[in-house]
Amino acid sequence: MSLPDLNKLRIGHGYDVHRFADRFDPAKPLILAGVKLPVEMSLMAHSDGDLILHALADAVLGAAAEGDIGRLFPDSDASLAGISSAIILQTALEKAAEKGLKPINLDLTVVAQAPKISPHAEAMRESLAALTGLTAAGINLKATTTEGMGWLGRQEGMACHAVVLMGPDV
Ligand code: CDP
Ligand code: ZN
Repeated sequence: MSLPDLNKLRIGHGYDVHRFADRFDPAKPLILAGVKLPVEMSLMAHSDGDLILHALADAVLGAAAEGDIGRLFPDSDASLAGISSAIILQTALEKAAEKGLKPINLDLTVVAQAPKISPHAEAMRESLAALTGLTAAGINLKATTTEGMGWLGRQEGMACHAVVLMGPDV
């Protein structure tokens, strides 16, 4: 097995938050890591609200020193309303690829009182593998509550942290 040039490794971090809508809108199902969850919850968002993919896209842009997704996809651009977050992630991956960077592994932490992530974690990892070109071995997805404390504990919204290591093809 060849090893990447350590001087070419880059780490990136991303964080995203979305507020829950007051009531479920069937036209806005909960989509996390590209997977539609069978729960009656909706997030408020200009896009499809997939905060896992947003955090990951920001981490990818971070590793590539390319700013953030708000710069690539401004909220003020009406033509982007309802955009699939898979496109946002793909665009971030392309920006990084232009600099010779591909994901090596990624670690995601969802912070939410609800919904329960663990029953869907494997489907999400498979989806993330398809979106990033990584195998599931390079993808970790975990979740925690805040033990009922604060805005996350009151289920006003949910959050996701993403860390990605990127480097050249070896
Ligand atoms: O995170 P910690 O183990 O301290 O406790 P917790 O917040 O009560 O979460 C217990 C477990 O539930 C986590 O380790 C996750 O596996 C899972 N969990 C989940 O699947 N979905 C969430 N929204 C929160 C937690
Ligand atoms: Zn977002």
